[in-house]
Amino acid sequence: MPSRAVILSVLIVMVALCIDVSQSAKIGLYADPNHTGPILAFHTMRDRSCYDLDSAEDNRASAVNTFGNCFILFEHPKCKGRQMKVKPGEGCHANLKQCNFDDITSSYRSC
Ligand SMILES: *[C@@H]1O[C@H](CO)[C@@H](O)[C@H](O)[C@H]1NC(C)=O
Repeated sequence: MPSRAVILSVLIVMVALCIDVSQSAKIGLYADPNHTGPILAFHTMRDRSCYDLDSAEDNRASAVNTFGNCFILFEHPKCKGRQMKVKPGEGCHANLKQCNFDDITSSYRSC
């Protein structure tokens, strides 16, 4: 029979995981249209802070997968310059070129 402390710990961890999942947003950036080519970035954002692509990933993205989340892509580092919102039903996920956003993404944040 597990002690009350163990049950409580498990509950706290489960609640913490739920909060984490609800606040995190996964994104994938691809070098070629239709989510093909090298993957430039694939990670989970934990907050709304700006993420700068590094020099090898900069100005190369041609497609984005937001995994159902809302993101804003930016032309310049530190989330500056032209921007494009991508979320389900909005933005050119499979081909950024259709939104005049091909090979220019330098940073992004979740929205
Ligand atoms: C992306 O996929 C669609 C649907 O399969 C296709 O019509 C289109 O030509 C593809 N675009 C590119 C740039 O490969």
